Amino acid sequence: MKRFRRRYYDLFSHLYDKIIALHSQDKRALLRELLVEKTGLKPGGSLIDLCTGTGAVAITASKVAGKEGLVIGVDFSLGMLKKAHQKAKTIKATNLYFVLADVARLPFADKSFDAVTCSHAMYELDPLTREAALKEAYRVLKPGGCFAMMEHCEPKHPFIRLLYYIRLASMGSTENRTFARDERPFLARYFEDVKLEVTPTGGSKIIRGIKK
Ligand SMILES: C[S@@+](CC[C@H](N)C(=O)[O-])C[C@H]1O[C@@H](n2cnc3c(N)ncnc32)[C@H](O)[C@@H]1O
Repeated sequence: MKRFRRRYYDLFSHLYDKIIALHSQDKRALLRELLVEKTGLKPGGSLIDLCTGTGAVAITASKVAGKEGLVIGVDFSLGMLKKAHQKAKTIKATNLYFVLADVARLPFADKSFDAVTCSHAMYELDPLTREAALKEAYRVLKPGGCFAMMEHCEPKHPFIRLLYYIRLASMGSTENRTFARDERPFLARYFEDVKLEVTPTGGSKIIRGIKK
């Protein structure tokens, strides 16, 4: 199953940014800035972006972390990471790396990052992978570090809402639907001070928690 999904994302990588641009009219860029801001990342800080895709959140974070900081985007699709790498080259970031790995097993030491992000991806991971990814996010965060993820809100338009439900149903697990409705109980298994905020666009939500 994972091999199939990885292949799907390898193929999708060629269209991903174009489809997102059409769909969001650049609202997503602002949302990614907001997601990074919500982690409290400072210049010189370190962040891992899980399921980084074409690297948009990681690139945004690398600008905040600055020369002294470190940002790593992790994804299991080589196709997605190639696109991310091409984009990163255009901004000549010296603090940004992309690593091919499964988010269920992060190749990083315990307590080594200030922040972990994940944008529009946690809801579609299978439940075991998601649980492992949350556990890994907790493990690699320093005490006091922030995990922040962004997801779609349930669409208001009836037709889009129907498509959204079909997408959730196609994932084949009722737990994915439960997760998409309210992510807080899942994060609260690992993190404290878990908060959910709807973004100013109304279409997405940011859920975050702190490693005590
Ligand atoms: C919908 S895209 C989101 C990309 C990006 N975060 C964004 O906001 O544009 C989901 C990404 O998750 C990655 N992914 C899915 N399962 C994964 C796993 N188990 N380990 C690592 N990456 C995974 C896919 O390859 C894909 O790039």
